[in-house]
Amino acid sequence: MNIAVIPVAGLGTRLLPTTKSQPKEMLPVGRKPIVQHIAEELIRVGIDQILFITGPGKASIENHFDVNKELVEALREKGKEDLLAELEFDRFQTRYFYTRQRQLLGLGHAISCARAFVGDQPFVVALGDSIIGLNAQSDIVQRMQQCFDEKQCAAVIAFEEVPDHEVSQYGIAKPGSDDEFFPVLDVIEKPSLEEAPSNLAIAARYIFTPQIFDALDQGVPGKGGEIQLTDAIRLLIQEGQTVYGVRLRPTERRYDIGNFEAYFRAFVEFALADEQYGASLREYLESMLGAVPR
Ligand code: UTP
Repeated sequence: MNIAVIPVAGLGTRLLPTTKSQPKEMLPVGRKPIVQHIAEELIRVGIDQILFITGPGKASIENHFDVNKELVEALREKGKEDLLAELEFDRFQTRYFYTRQRQLLGLGHAISCARAFVGDQPFVVALGDSIIGLNAQSDIVQRMQQCFDEKQCAAVIAFEEVPDHEVSQYGIAKPGSDDEFFPVLDVIEKPSLEEAPSNLAIAARYIFTPQIFDALDQGVPGKGGEIQLTDAIRLLIQEGQTVYGVRLRPTERRYDIGNFEAYFRAFVEFALADEQYGASLREYLESMLGAVPR
């Protein structure tokens, strides 16, 4: 499996005004924009074709993954080899593709825009606003591929154990076992704590076969006229298809950068882990917090 789809067409309204004219997927977390962390995670596990589902106002994502010759020449002339090394990611052998989601009908609809591109192959989906693991050091997609091959699934989904108060924000699994790879018996979109069959929340990484497109086509637009991905996954399960879940490890946090609280936390955590500036930032924060009257 070498194809990944990254949907980045959403409006990012929870991060206004920052996202008024720039994509939330380009917000820096530590030194890199969110989508670069995601692309690097995928490339590390063997993905070499990435399709972005984009929309108006997202051109900076295309520019970011393109080679900027002028910048390269300017750095070369000045002998700034260290800074040139920072641009290495755009010279990987990865091929980047872009297509537009022409109507914002939700995540499910965004995925269905990949249909012509993926053809009859299985593919990975990585949400454009979620980083897995500190500095994206996660091999979850590789483990999901292993599960996909072993269990012959129609879909594999990554899950993270979340605290009770977060259960109502995510799609939640009804797991069929306690194993690392477990059959998913049902998924329920944003349940109340009482309705929730577990604390396992869908964690922004999926593997699908093209069967998902037919399930998405059958889906009736739900909340807010959006075509829900969770409903399509549910349909696969109800049709008797095999859907598996893979658990994130406790050390493998999911940074879902959908709102300011999550964004601030992720930025600080990545900045504190920075090799060059992390230690001095820690000192600065400690002195600042020490000065705050309690
Ligand atoms: P979200 O639902 O978190 O993003 O989608 P959003 O709609 O941009 O956020 P708010 O609610 O307005 O603040 C998760 C990912 O799916 C993409 C988003 O760009 C984001 O990377 N997405 C979402 C699409 O590509 N198309 C859509 O119709 C919706």
